[in-house]
Amino acid sequence: MLFLEFFDDTVRWRDKGVDEVEGLPVLGVLGSPSRRDPVVTRYRPRSQQAEAVRQLRARIALTRSPHSLRVVLITSPRAKDGKSTTAANLGVASALGGRRTLLIDADMRNPSLNELFDIPNVLGLADLLTADREDRDRLLDKAIRETSTPNLFVLTAGLTLRDSASLLGSASTGDLFVTLRNRFDYVVVDTPPLLVVPDAAILAPLVEGVVFILRVGRVTRRMVRKMKELLLAAGNVSILGVALTGAPSRVEGKSSTYYRYRSAPATEEFPGLGGRIYKALKFLHRLPVGYTWKLKDGTILVPIAQVARRLGVRTSTAVKWCQAGRLKGARKLFRWWVSEQELHDFVKRELGEEAAAGESAAAGAFSPEDAAALEAADGKAPAEGAAFHRTG
Ligand SMILES: Nc1ncnc2c1ncn2[C@@H]1O[C@H](COP(=O)(O)OP(=O)(O)OP(=O)(O)O)[C@@H](O)[C@H]1O
Ligand SMILES: [Mg+2]
Repeated sequence: MLFLEFFDDTVRWRDKGVDEVEGLPVLGVLGSPSRRDPVVTRYRPRSQQAEAVRQLRARIALTRSPHSLRVVLITSPRAKDGKSTTAANLGVASALGGRRTLLIDADMRNPSLNELFDIPNVLGLADLLTADREDRDRLLDKAIRETSTPNLFVLTAGLTLRDSASLLGSASTGDLFVTLRNRFDYVVVDTPPLLVVPDAAILAPLVEGVVFILRVGRVTRRMVRKMKELLLAAGNVSILGVALTGAPSRVEGKSSTYYRYRSAPATEEFPGLGGRIYKALKFLHRLPVGYTWKLKDGTILVPIAQVARRLGVRTSTAVKWCQAGRLKGARKLFRWWVSEQELHDFVKRELGEEAAAGESAAAGAFSPEDAAALEAADGKAPAEGAAFHRTG
């Protein structure tokens, strides 16, 4: 049984049983995720935390029983309430339960499902919505990415310069959602915060039910009322209930050291000279985002921060892929570099364009000449061996 109370206006944990918030049923209570892998249903499927996600999924389903509920939208009042993590966990729980499941990242302002599933964000929802009808059908299969969890697929947010609200508000969004609903047994839509941008309210009438993620200790009743008002104004929207995040482990389930996992202190906090040098290197790492490096043989090298930007991932993710050899890069002048050719081939490989995969093994990787040129330039000013080019 859940214990919380409203103190002031803030929803807090207390020792009185409350199982509704502003008239909405509490469907689940989720504790803080592990930093090692926030998708606990995949990382520790037998843990108490994963069980809590399964319960949440079951209760969401029961809200519409005996009719089956296929498309659920996840939103919250503000940023960092745990929406994406919860959406990802619901997706994994559903897929492991044998349903063909799709996770849609509809947070184009701050995409994150692709990071949780370790895939680039190069073709996604935004691209499908800007494509014309024929192109969209052709792109759909490429855009829906398999994950390492059987039965689980992800449609990343995609990259767009257009305003996401106007994009999501177009007629093609409704068509796309119908198509996707017919292709999957269960669809979970992750959205940006409802009290910050209108995107979630725009999508809510297109789904079968909405679940609010409320971070205890941070969310107020006023915010929940405001969210209800916004969705009411959006039209035909069904709010299924709420899931509480940030639960202390004693509330959520058995306490264990696993829940108290702490990462090492952030590097920024390292004191002394070492910390300052590290910071300087980090700065160097980020500096030349708009620049590429042209080697004498014409190879154009792209610095990792720019690579990451083009792939729609964090720089640390792009670095990880280089280290693992998934993205073929070279580490020179304190940072990773990837050739334009390899970047192009990587995207093709990722999108399953197999024809390019064969070629790219040779063409995309650094040739021995590239490596030699880099070796020669290493430690010197880049201008000696090559030229930097502004790419805009
Ligand atoms: N159940 C939870 N309890 C406490 N913290 C959580 C929970 N789920 C996720 N978090 C943490 O909250 C932070 C934000 O998580 P997440 O990215 O899922 O939130 P979000 O609501 O999608 O954020 P944004 O609005 O920026 O997209 C992360 O540090 C994550 O580890
Ligand atoms: Mg998110």
